[in-house]
Amino acid sequence: MSAPQQRRIIFQHIDEPGYTPDIDCYLRHGGYEILRRAVTRPPGELRDEVKQSGLRGRGGAGFPAGVKWSLVDRKSGKPIYLIVNADESEPGTFKDRYIIHQDPHQLIEGTMISCFANDVKQAYIYIRGEMPHGARLLERAIAEARAKNFVGPNILGTGYSCEIYVHRGAGAYICGEETGLIESLEGKRANPRIKPPYFPAVLGLYQCPTIVNNVETLCHVRHIIDMGGVEYAKIGTPNNTGTRIFGVSGHVQRPGTYEYECGKITLGQLLYDVCGGPLPGRKLKAVIPGGSSAKVLRFGEKFTLKNKDGSTRELAMEDIPLDFDTLAACGTMGGSGGLIVMDDSVNMVEALANINAFYSHESCGQCTPCREGSLWMKKITSRMVHGNARREDAALLKGVADQIPGRTICAMGEGCSWPTQSFLAKFGEEFEAYHKPKKTRPADALPLI
Ligand code: NAI
Ligand code: SF4
Repeated sequence: MSAPQQRRIIFQHIDEPGYTPDIDCYLRHGGYEILRRAVTRPPGELRDEVKQSGLRGRGGAGFPAGVKWSLVDRKSGKPIYLIVNADESEPGTFKDRYIIHQDPHQLIEGTMISCFANDVKQAYIYIRGEMPHGARLLERAIAEARAKNFVGPNILGTGYSCEIYVHRGAGAYICGEETGLIESLEGKRANPRIKPPYFPAVLGLYQCPTIVNNVETLCHVRHIIDMGGVEYAKIGTPNNTGTRIFGVSGHVQRPGTYEYECGKITLGQLLYDVCGGPLPGRKLKAVIPGGSSAKVLRFGEKFTLKNKDGSTRELAMEDIPLDFDTLAACGTMGGSGGLIVMDDSVNMVEALANINAFYSHESCGQCTPCREGSLWMKKITSRMVHGNARREDAALLKGVADQIPGRTICAMGEGCSWPTQSFLAKFGEEFEAYHKPKKTRPADALPLI
């Protein structure tokens, strides 16, 4: 079955010839009209729309955005902050950067509607340091929006005032973890905080209730308020509503960003029909479906899934519908929507060595299992690809990876160990083969980080 049509909601105008990131172009395309209507409605009604829409966070965890908003402590008497998480650092993830570069005003409008809905007077866009162009575009877009009275004091004459500030990170992956981000915004080292008991919704920035939402999530809010939560919930599939932007990178003929209804396109349709399949003469070997932290899938593998009535069904890897729940049932995750595709030219031990080098470098170091475990996973895979593998290395690697998840402060414990666990489970034979003495790196191997 060939792939369905793209459903372009966030990408409605992006890629149209002549569409530019300035406010005049945005206004010509109906920009800020939804904010204009939103500020005439009671904020609680807007929050209800988002809850009814079923929108799940597009940063990676898939937590329902409306529920997150409903958990905000509105009785504390403290200011409520909103933080746009634009620190997109997950390897293989580039959708938020694309939105910011192509359509920054869509994000500003979604943010302002969300601020109004939650009585927020101060919002921050935390953007990663490696995106200077995006930061400049956002600063310009905010200035343009302020000049037109969409941001700042007495917005559109309603008496409601709200400022948005752009804050640039300094290039640490862990600043994308929401509590690490908050620490960084407060001027401290980005050490994630322990949660539960206190989530940012109760104690966040400066110990005040804080909403942290991803860039794509906030863009969806604009469209939910436009069409209504109930209408939006009809897009996609139950519990996986709306559209999703998939960022495909690696060994396919047409890598890029594509927007589809959640759960309405399969992995095979996306990679073969939309992205053109493998490069000439190659076969697809593996895909990491949700940013590098997600567990790898092997082409040809099958999954046994439970139906609601308790019966089971078999699902081929290519037939997995791309939604949060099915990917989770297949033992991996939709995560950040970044799909990393590898063909049969890839040496899986080398691929893992690169991933491990990244996580070891990015661990904040607070928790021993993450700090030491990621370091040892890097050391072991590194010595394997450099021809110094030991007979016990594959088992040792598994032993280290298995001791990290569930024993750390933040989700990076899982994120750094899942690649190793899944690469070993799916491609164990490649790791076992490495203990043969005098194994040397192929001359054309990827450089190690
Ligand atoms: P999480 O599941 O702990 O939390 C998800 C969100 O729901 C958070 O905002 C949290 O504050 C909120 N939440 C959960 N339970 C709550 C409660 N009882 N009360 C109030 N709020 C509550 O996941 P986390 O650690 O925020 O994110 C992990 C995910 O991030 C990973 O699965 C990964 O896919 C993704 N990720 C994305 C990156 C990117 O560049 N987009 C980078 C690294 C990871
Ligand atoms: Fe830091 Fe890793 Fe612990 Fe997260 S899990 S707090 S990154 S040491």
